[in-house]
Amino acid sequence: MLDIAFTAGPDEPIIGAAPGVVAFPVSKPEGSASAAVVATSLPDDLRAEAEAFLAQVAHSGKAGEVHILHRPLQETSKVLFVGIGEGDEAGWRSAGAAVTRSSVKETSVTIEITSAREPAAAVRGFAEGAWLAEYKFRLVEPGPDDGPKLTGLRLHAPGVDQRAIDTARIVATHTRFARDLTNMPSGVKTPEWFVDQVTERGGRIEIKVWDPAELAADGFNGILAVGSGSSRGPRLLRLDYAPEGATRHVVLVGKGITFDTGGIDIKPADAMALMRKDMGGGAAVVGATLAAAELELPVRVTALVALAENLVSGTSWRQGDVIKHYGGLTTEVRSTDAEGRVVLGDALAYAVETYDPDYLIDLATLTGASRVALGKRIAALFSEDDALVKALSEAAKAAGESVWQLPLPGDYRAAVVSEIADLYNSTEVSAAGTITAALYLREFTGEQHDRWAHIDMSSPSWADSANGELAKGATGWGVRTLVRWFESL
Ligand code: BES
Ligand code: ZN
Ligand code: ZN
Repeated sequence: MLDIAFTAGPDEPIIGAAPGVVAFPVSKPEGSASAAVVATSLPDDLRAEAEAFLAQVAHSGKAGEVHILHRPLQETSKVLFVGIGEGDEAGWRSAGAAVTRSSVKETSVTIEITSAREPAAAVRGFAEGAWLAEYKFRLVEPGPDDGPKLTGLRLHAPGVDQRAIDTARIVATHTRFARDLTNMPSGVKTPEWFVDQVTERGGRIEIKVWDPAELAADGFNGILAVGSGSSRGPRLLRLDYAPEGATRHVVLVGKGITFDTGGIDIKPADAMALMRKDMGGGAAVVGATLAAAELELPVRVTALVALAENLVSGTSWRQGDVIKHYGGLTTEVRSTDAEGRVVLGDALAYAVETYDPDYLIDLATLTGASRVALGKRIAALFSEDDALVKALSEAAKAAGESVWQLPLPGDYRAAVVSEIADLYNSTEVSAAGTITAALYLREFTGEQHDRWAHIDMSSPSWADSANGELAKGATGWGVRTLVRWFESL
């Protein structure tokens, strides 16, 4: 990982102190005609040069916009001007990502963060943006465009505590772990492999795993049904971070389909191509739990990941089957491609029976319909608790992720009621796919429906191209939002 640290001290001059490149934050105040440097350390002789340069390149000051001033034969031969937008954490996050992606290689960049309105938030944002943008998934080295890399970032931010950088590092590390899990090809990524990866990094967290025989003994028949077509058996994974003196308890549930062919309701090739990502919700709840533990947050976090591979074979589950879930609810299978809700049903029922948490939150790449509703960058959020909706929405916004609430209309519930069992796992094509999936899950939350939230993050879990702090591929969506929310509890 990129080396990010504070400069030696408040008196250390930024320019000329160390070999390397200097960066200055730039912003365009409202109403003003041109963007200007917002730093106190800009020497007078450079100030006039910078002003002329910013005008010449028409720097907009927008977050993440970078222009490099070349100064041949001068001691500081390259000066980078990076936009910070409004100068809030999001602006600094984009700036951190942009500096990392800029063409400054084999060197260290020093930047001043002293004039930020909230310096600690700015430092956290900048470092997080840099570490997330640095990420790249490759199974062999080197890549076609793996040239020399930026070696380090030095942040000149007198008075800001080391904790700001440490928090960014922990959140970025676990977001990157969630991305790694999600990007890994499914030939490698079996339910057992997922469990092993987490167990290796579990540290002080208590971990419990159910193998297929244990799932059968305990009645997790939804997870077993979905995994029945694969020779690589399903698992249920439970993490428990229970710090002494915790006053809140959160239970997280994640969808962990390591590959989704659609089962006998097989997906067309194009729709199946990226279905290794169908465990992104499980990866996010794991990442958030590990991060909470490393940050030593005073919140108990229990995470459950329902892991199965949804394949087509002579032993696959089939349409018309009736599954008796953990806890007793039954599902009539209408589509073997609506498998996520079937494994989540078991895990939610287990959570409700076992714990009495303050909050019960599930994350899942549940429906393609969520992209139709909200597009590529926004996750769908469901909850009956308005305060929880507000808190999760604010956490997402602060974290640089985005959610939007969709309703849980009682009169749509009929769409998931079966004639011969309790529930159908899918509905008529004319039904609202994302909402009816949420209503199905709600049935498993029993008396805890009022403290439950469901997040369908099918779309934002994957980026089609690199953009800001997002690398192409898995985004690790949810780790950042959940950690922010824990911090607010
Ligand atoms: N894993 C998919 C949802 C998905 C689609 C995630 C695209 C990410 C990108 C899920 O298991 C699924 O197939 N859902 C069906 C539900 C339908 C059969 C009721 C869907 O969305 O079409
Ligand atoms: Zn599916
Ligand atoms: Zn799926």
